[in-house]
Amino acid sequence: MSIMAWTAVILAAGKGTRMASCKPKALQMLAGRTLIGHVLNTLDNLSIDEAVIIHSPEAKSDFEEELIGRNNITYVEQKEALGTAHALKTALPHVSTDNLLVLLGDVPLLSGFTISKLQEEVKKNDLVVLTGTVDNPSGYGRICKDSDGKPSAIIEELDCDDEQRKIKEINSGIMAFKTNVATNLVEKIKPNPKKNEYYLTDAIEIAYHEGIQASTYLTSEEEVFGVNSKKDLSEAEKINRKNITDKLMDSGVTIIDPNRVDVRGTLSCGQNVTIDVNTVFIGDVKLGDNVTIAPFTIVSNSVIGDGTSIYSHSNIDGADIGSSCNIGPYARIRPQTKLEEGARVGNFVETKKSVIGKGSKVNHLTYIGDAKIGEKTNIGAGTITCNYDGVNKHQTKIGDEVFIGSGVELVAPIEVENGATVGAGSTVSKHVPADKLTIERSKQKTIDGWKRPTKKEEK
Ligand code: UD1
Ligand code: CA
Repeated sequence: MSIMAWTAVILAAGKGTRMASCKPKALQMLAGRTLIGHVLNTLDNLSIDEAVIIHSPEAKSDFEEELIGRNNITYVEQKEALGTAHALKTALPHVSTDNLLVLLGDVPLLSGFTISKLQEEVKKNDLVVLTGTVDNPSGYGRICKDSDGKPSAIIEELDCDDEQRKIKEINSGIMAFKTNVATNLVEKIKPNPKKNEYYLTDAIEIAYHEGIQASTYLTSEEEVFGVNSKKDLSEAEKINRKNITDKLMDSGVTIIDPNRVDVRGTLSCGQNVTIDVNTVFIGDVKLGDNVTIAPFTIVSNSVIGDGTSIYSHSNIDGADIGSSCNIGPYARIRPQTKLEEGARVGNFVETKKSVIGKGSKVNHLTYIGDAKIGEKTNIGAGTITCNYDGVNKHQTKIGDEVFIGSGVELVAPIEVENGATVGAGSTVSKHVPADKLTIERSKQKTIDGWKRPTKKEEK
């Protein structure tokens, strides 16, 4: 056991009844990530040596599946949800450090800074409770203090008298302990007479009577927000959204309406970026300088270069977009698309696993898949790269300064050489040579004396 080693015990075995969901509460999604995922992410940048997750028996595989790839996690089953103190007691045999943090799987917005403050506090005291002052304390345990300001008890809502119910300093449920102190206290907690559950909150009153050094650490209402219901979940989205948009605006991003931008991951922005309403950013997104994102646009896991404009209703996923490009409105840019400087992709165009070269244009109603397009090439409206033969995918290669007329089908594998022109309406399936017109179109004919059919009289 090293002196200042820490274990984070995350309690997530409760029934979560108020969520009215078949999914465990800690696996509900907030801003594109599970609640417990938020807690674990916060721990990532701190000096925490191991995490113990307390889960219900039926949720084991759900947790393991969701949190796959994360290291140093021990999953411990709490056979029956007998309360938060019982949950901690279940975890203790798996704690090998001399300090521990109790975190809740349903308190996702806690900051790493605050946790590190709790860790510092435990150097001075045996135990510290994280509290918040809230306007409406209902549903939270209330913090009672003696005349010296020392915490003397935490009273749960159901057990509060009228005076206690008015207390606005609440228990966040987050606590930090010296492990031996937690072990000693948890042993002494008796079931709550009303609910028949072991309340970890009772540890404070016992500590007070035993002269154990306990303190509180106060933080913002937003950080300690506990998520018990779907309404709480949407409230947490609101708080999280505000945290993110505040930071972005502080760094100079113009956000037309911060209530209508969702960031489900990490968004980094250069200078003079404008983000319009009803936009969603998913995963890792990087926007360069002078980028504008128009309404109803979704950008996932992509890089957008300097001076690029994304027009409304576009969906960009897994793409590398160069500088000074224009995309949309109504464009669908799928994974492994690369747009080089000054390329344009217009309305109702879908691209996938393709490169669109410098200054090239694909402006209307087109599918470009498994293709490489050179520089200054123009792809006419309604062009389709026929990349799939029903079994395998094939490549289309189009050179520089090519002109593809409207309504062309390029049956892959195929190459169109530099400077070639393909006539409108052609279905080309053979090599297209450079600097010539290639056309595949049946002769137009006009039939003399042809009569339009007329409507038959109904009998
Ligand atoms: C708890 C606190 C309350 C605090 C609030 C903060 C207690 C008795 N009450 O109330 O003082 O203000 O959190 O959000 O501690 N859990 C288990 N096993 C159990 C019971 C619960 O792992 O047997 C887990 C839950 O999954 C949840 C967390 O512990 O993640 C808190 O349980 P919950 O039932 O939500 O407690 P609250 O009523 O919110
Ligand atoms: Ca709760």
